[in-house]
Amino acid sequence: MRFLILFLTAAIGLIPAPVKYTPEKDRTSFKKAVAQLEPWQQQEAYRLTIRGKRVKIEALTPEGRFRAQKSLEQLQMLGELPQGTIFDYPRFRHRGLMIDESRSFKGLAFLKKQVDAMALLKLNVLHLHLDDSAGWRIESEAYPDLTGKTAFRIGRTYHEWEAGRYRFTTADDPTGYGGYYTREELKELVAYAAQRYITVIPEIEMPGHSMEVGYAYPQVLCEHPNGRLHTGAWDLCPGSEATYRLLEAVLEEVMDIFPSPFIHIGGDEATMKTWSQCVHCARRMEEEGYTDVKELQGYLVRRIERFVAAHGRRIIGWDEILETGVPEQAVVQSWRGIAGGIQASAAGHEVIMSPNSHCYYNYYQDLIRKEPKAVGELVSLRFTYGYEPLAPGMDPALLRGVQANLWTELIPTPEHAEYMLYPRLFALAETAWTPAAQKEYKGFRKRARALLDLFRSLGYNTFDMDTESDLARSGLQRFPPEGTPIPLDE
Ligand code: ACM
Ligand code: ZN
Repeated sequence: MRFLILFLTAAIGLIPAPVKYTPEKDRTSFKKAVAQLEPWQQQEAYRLTIRGKRVKIEALTPEGRFRAQKSLEQLQMLGELPQGTIFDYPRFRHRGLMIDESRSFKGLAFLKKQVDAMALLKLNVLHLHLDDSAGWRIESEAYPDLTGKTAFRIGRTYHEWEAGRYRFTTADDPTGYGGYYTREELKELVAYAAQRYITVIPEIEMPGHSMEVGYAYPQVLCEHPNGRLHTGAWDLCPGSEATYRLLEAVLEEVMDIFPSPFIHIGGDEATMKTWSQCVHCARRMEEEGYTDVKELQGYLVRRIERFVAAHGRRIIGWDEILETGVPEQAVVQSWRGIAGGIQASAAGHEVIMSPNSHCYYNYYQDLIRKEPKAVGELVSLRFTYGYEPLAPGMDPALLRGVQANLWTELIPTPEHAEYMLYPRLFALAETAWTPAAQKEYKGFRKRARALLDLFRSLGYNTFDMDTESDLARSGLQRFPPEGTPIPLDE
């Protein structure tokens, strides 16, 4: 019987696979079954019963009902209406996708289309990387030059812009590339996502990856003892009060647009190069008794954390924020592999896992010679599907969930972005929703193949699974030397 149930679960086309499918009518009490779950799981739990053409949905909340409707919609679009009962609830509360809008700007229609896909896949967090050195993409009333001076650049692609020595231009320049989201557009996106039970988490990057901010407002740059500003610096000056004035004003505006309980403040890859040659940083270090410029990163993160917390929100930061001290209520997002997530959990932080090894969908999904230029090692469908977010030793209660990240230095168009996301986002969705013990690649691949056709028919550009190489299908992460035999156990 157990075998039969597992077999039938696998036979349903749904992605993510539901917790339980029985071909008979389930006579147990839904309320009793749900009572066993965590409160946040109860919110999303549902039971979907299909008898002939009659459909019954049971759920404790409108959100649970919505998840059931999305299951039904997916099954109907796949041309399936299995008889029986699906009982379902999520494994993780954070099931996310990050899209980098700085390196390439894709616009509101694109984001809404991805929100639709996310809803179908039961993902519930859209994390927007809204600013980086290659362009600021969110309108600010307090600091209008952020978009006025850096939302458009010379160079359609990130690398053309880099090769042209990082030049910005203005909206009226017909040779410029770029764009930004108005406040109204972002509110529209937030509402559109909320109707689909998706939270939009904004990221305002600091103190690294911020060359554009210093270009628009030089008062946030480090200042050399000889009075010269460190023009073109990658990092904001963590010593100067002007930096905090700007960041806090922007964050106020951001929190006004985005009701998300979490605000992402970046925190990754500060070079700290100018901090040791700056009068403001020197003064701040003396006042705080610091001996290493690195401590200025901790100062900035903690000060911004206090500001965000005073507005009733919590910060999320990339795993670097752990290195210089941050209060326990900060959520740590592990990206440099899984070590940051393990350390964060040990220190009592809640954790989001998005290790570049498995969850960076800007990395190659197949052989270098057949794919558009990408980065990293091979994050094939099978490899990313095999990811288990709960690392040994990690406290399950602190693991909020899992997220895919799409950085767009090498992804200049919306079509290319979709190509990198689908079908790999199907795998992420199943890792995020389905109990680990129920994951099984062979069955998933079949379901993904069918869902991919559906996505194409809905107008998404996708990777072609039929041309996937044996290497990608093998699930190996490394590109082996040309000519190495590939183990294939399918
Ligand atoms: C990152 O990929 N720098 C967070
Ligand atoms: Zn400085």
